[in-house]
Amino acid sequence: MCGIVGYIGKRQAYPILIKGLQRLEYRGYDSAGIALIDNEKLNIYKAKGKVSDLVRFAEQQNINGTLGIAHTRWATHGEPNQINAHPHSSQSETLALIHNGIIENYAVLKQGLKEQGYTFVSDTDTEVLVQLIEYVKASNHVDLTSAVQLALNQVVGAYAIAVIEKNNPDVIVAARKGSPLVVGIGEDEFFLASDATPIVEYTNKVVYVGDEEIVTLKRGEEIKIKTISNVEKTPQIKELEMTLSQLEKGGFPHFMLKEIFEQPTTLSDSMRGRVLTEELKIKLSGFIQHKDKFMNANRIIITACGTSWHAGLIGKYAIEEFARIPVEVEYSSEFRYRKPVINENDLVIAISQSGETADTLAAVELAKSHGAFIFGICNVVGSSIPRNTDSGCYTHAGPEIGVASTKAFTAQVTVLTMLALIMGKEKGTLSATQYEKTVNELALIPTKIKSILNQNDAIAQFAKTFTYAQNFIYLGRGYNYPVALEGALKLKEISYIHAEGYPAAEMKHGPIALISHEMPVVVIAPSAGMYEKVVSNIQEIKARKGKIISIVTEGDVVVKNLSDYTISIPDTEECLVPLLAAIPLQLMAYHIAVVKGCDVDQPRNLAKSVTVE
Ligand code: G6P
Repeated sequence: MCGIVGYIGKRQAYPILIKGLQRLEYRGYDSAGIALIDNEKLNIYKAKGKVSDLVRFAEQQNINGTLGIAHTRWATHGEPNQINAHPHSSQSETLALIHNGIIENYAVLKQGLKEQGYTFVSDTDTEVLVQLIEYVKASNHVDLTSAVQLALNQVVGAYAIAVIEKNNPDVIVAARKGSPLVVGIGEDEFFLASDATPIVEYTNKVVYVGDEEIVTLKRGEEIKIKTISNVEKTPQIKELEMTLSQLEKGGFPHFMLKEIFEQPTTLSDSMRGRVLTEELKIKLSGFIQHKDKFMNANRIIITACGTSWHAGLIGKYAIEEFARIPVEVEYSSEFRYRKPVINENDLVIAISQSGETADTLAAVELAKSHGAFIFGICNVVGSSIPRNTDSGCYTHAGPEIGVASTKAFTAQVTVLTMLALIMGKEKGTLSATQYEKTVNELALIPTKIKSILNQNDAIAQFAKTFTYAQNFIYLGRGYNYPVALEGALKLKEISYIHAEGYPAAEMKHGPIALISHEMPVVVIAPSAGMYEKVVSNIQEIKARKGKIISIVTEGDVVVKNLSDYTISIPDTEECLVPLLAAIPLQLMAYHIAVVKGCDVDQPRNLAKSVTVE
């Protein structure tokens, strides 16, 4: 987590850095800081809290300078306060450094530096790194780039860093291992950031810095890259696809609501060129190029975290139903450490919105080391996971800024569904009729979502009733069990109401003891699927006076009559219901959180991109 941004060029750095931090705030928001060099003075300003707190403080100070670095933090070492905020400076106060990641051997390095007379003001691993760079620089009489290189050779851990030097106002040195880093190339200016969002406004030319690479950005010179083991690299300049308007709220009060409403468009984008309605077929180049790997796979392992893991679970249902290949869905954090059995004939699918989640990246590395073929389903183009996989498929949901994932989730489910369909078709385990019918239905999903979004006002209205609740239960069966998990997660994340998702039939094995007249129970009860069975589960809750909020298929009467509140979704194929049922659950969580006065886009303690384990 944490967001880093830097600028060197002809303009004032401060406004660029602050705007950049605001774009990266989703990565962490417990403190923020900025360092600027002006007239050989290194000015560092930091504040506990959000970027807006930093702005209030910094704007009373000297904010001049055409070179600077800035940071928004999600605490790992040391509590979130002003002292632990970045940038950190070295003992002589000549160097300032920002860091996203974790230096694992910081304690040993700190002890060594203490023995050399260095003292520390913060509890952070980052301060150790900046002191180490200063120490190495002074003892070896080398320039900043070489000092960074020598220091990083002593470091164990993950980092994206940027360092500046008071007496050298013409250079920023940056490096990465594990954590992401992108450099923007302008005319006589450079930008750097954790992702491209702070850069897109100024240039569409970027370089994605590779693992263990050090970048030197010097005024009047071209970007220079070398590895920490001193191998020169030719920068690969790429063109950004992102646009500025994708990063703004576009009239919505929150990014989350904007992103929920974007889903008809994002799903169309996900399907563009892949769901071919005229020919009634799916075309996925990542699949076509490696068809044999899919056809010969003995087993598929899906690895992911959080919302992406829920999407993976839906993928399992679809792949097993259509392609008849066994699928296991693994939490990346467990998978990477529990010595799993992975064979060369396994196909591993890594799902990640950010493409940077540390545990998922490590799971990919582990599977690779066992010879498995790795397929990535990611949203952020050029991020670490897609760059470390054998093949893949971008979700094309566009930048997701709200910390709680919405449009990325439905895009992941869409890609997994396309994959399951094409695999089933190719394996001959899915009939041509079912294949074509589902392809046709998939293409209709964006329009169907629009009709659900039209119920937004009604959902906002009844959501007010539930702000009293301390607990919620979400129930679903089959494809809708993962949707229940995801609905509960959305509510927890943004409204801080405790919520649990269960397979509806599991109710009677425990959770039913919790039902009382105060307990809201959300039941996903579409007509496609185990409708009658879910109706029985609803009766059981009703008998215990639970409050029932149901998601039903348009025209349903039975469940509606049993429910306190009902949201209707259009009819569709069973495997596609999650794409529709997720929408009212997102809206409900959103409205409950808004009425409760919660910070919807930046919920407490969370970060969007979890680049630490
Ligand atoms: C964090 C985010 C979640 C996300 C999870 C996995 O916890 O807050 O919204 O689902 O990370 O992230 P990924 O980028 O790998 O999908």
